[in-house]
Amino acid sequence: MDGLTCWLNERKAAGNLRELMPIQRIPGGRIRLPGMPESLPPLLDFSSNDYLALTLHQSVIENSRRFLDSFGAGSGAARLMSGDLEIHHHLEAEVARFKGKESALLFGAGYLANTGVIPALAGRGDVIFSDRLNHASIYDGCLLSGARLIRFRHNNLNHLEECLEKHRGNFQQALVVVESIYSMDGDRCPLKRLIELKSCYSFILMVDEAHATGVFGRSGGGVIEEDGVADHVDISMGTFGKALGSYGAYVAASEEMVRYLVNRARTFIYSTALPPAVIGASLAAISVVREDRKMRSALHKKATLFKKILQQAGLNQDFGPSQIVPLLVRDSNVALEFAADLRKKGIFATPVRPPTVPRGTARLRFSVTLHHSDQVIIDTADVVAEVYNRLMLEKN
Ligand SMILES: Cc1ncc(COP(=O)(O)O)c(C=O)c1O
Repeated sequence: MDGLTCWLNERKAAGNLRELMPIQRIPGGRIRLPGMPESLPPLLDFSSNDYLALTLHQSVIENSRRFLDSFGAGSGAARLMSGDLEIHHHLEAEVARFKGKESALLFGAGYLANTGVIPALAGRGDVIFSDRLNHASIYDGCLLSGARLIRFRHNNLNHLEECLEKHRGNFQQALVVVESIYSMDGDRCPLKRLIELKSCYSFILMVDEAHATGVFGRSGGGVIEEDGVADHVDISMGTFGKALGSYGAYVAASEEMVRYLVNRARTFIYSTALPPAVIGASLAAISVVREDRKMRSALHKKATLFKKILQQAGLNQDFGPSQIVPLLVRDSNVALEFAADLRKKGIFATPVRPPTVPRGTARLRFSVTLHHSDQVIIDTADVVAEVYNRLMLEKN
């Protein structure tokens, strides 16, 4: 058996093999998996990050189409070649306003933003303090940077302070990176306390708001807006591909920082600019999010309802304050079984397993979206709780 086969077989045996599966998306937050008999109703999709259902919002689609017709299918080149269109600047100005910062810079995706910005800010001789549960794109950015990486315990600012106390003095620049809402745990970073640490230890603060933008804050500007800390966050990163229903990413920062990143962030410099249809969709999405506050409160109500039913059914896991609801089962094969049982009952939730999450913390990650009515949320939570409780009883 050659090395690849061996590796794949080992992954499969551990329940950690990832496989692609072309799904069919159906309006109303439903999907069909390959090979599903037509007689069966489509599955309810509880794995999407389309929290506000903006992928199907009429004005988002119309503006995307208008930009496609007016400006063409692609931007033709990287921004620093001839791909720097006026529409990119327009979106950057809107993002800066949305995030309460002076300026903004677009990236091809969140992965590219994190792997470009972090190495631009820290290198050999510097130190990065990164939450242990930060997204892979942040981790990869840290590794690429060549800086000393210190991972502090998840959401534990006492531990971060200990690390700062011990190590900060030994390095030139320091960067602290966190997510405001953690992608696989749904919990929230205590940003206000983190800002207090900034006045004691000098560091650049970068906050990834991939799962908070559009969902938190009075105008949807994220936890940074809700906590009123935009002025203290040096780099506010976010994506268009989740609550904003489109694609791509941005960082919002000072004008000087953005000018610096234009010259230093390699994933910005050496990559084709975002296409017009995506810019059109993102512009419309920001405008919807800013104007329609009811969307946000409706989403939070649904998320609270979902969590409340799970808790009433005896699932006393520590749920965070967000639309992301993880149910830990720990073992990867149990997570696969849990997902398979739910599919039989019409619910699709992806099992999240190592290496996406730490070993021994496999889970099903449910995300609540506006695609689903309150009744669907209630019925789903009932089924999820029943299947989870049965599975736990069998396994323990
Ligand atoms: C916290 C976080 N940051 C960054 C990313 C990457 O964003 P994108 O999907 O736009 O590459 C993700 C995507 O899942 C994420 O969850």
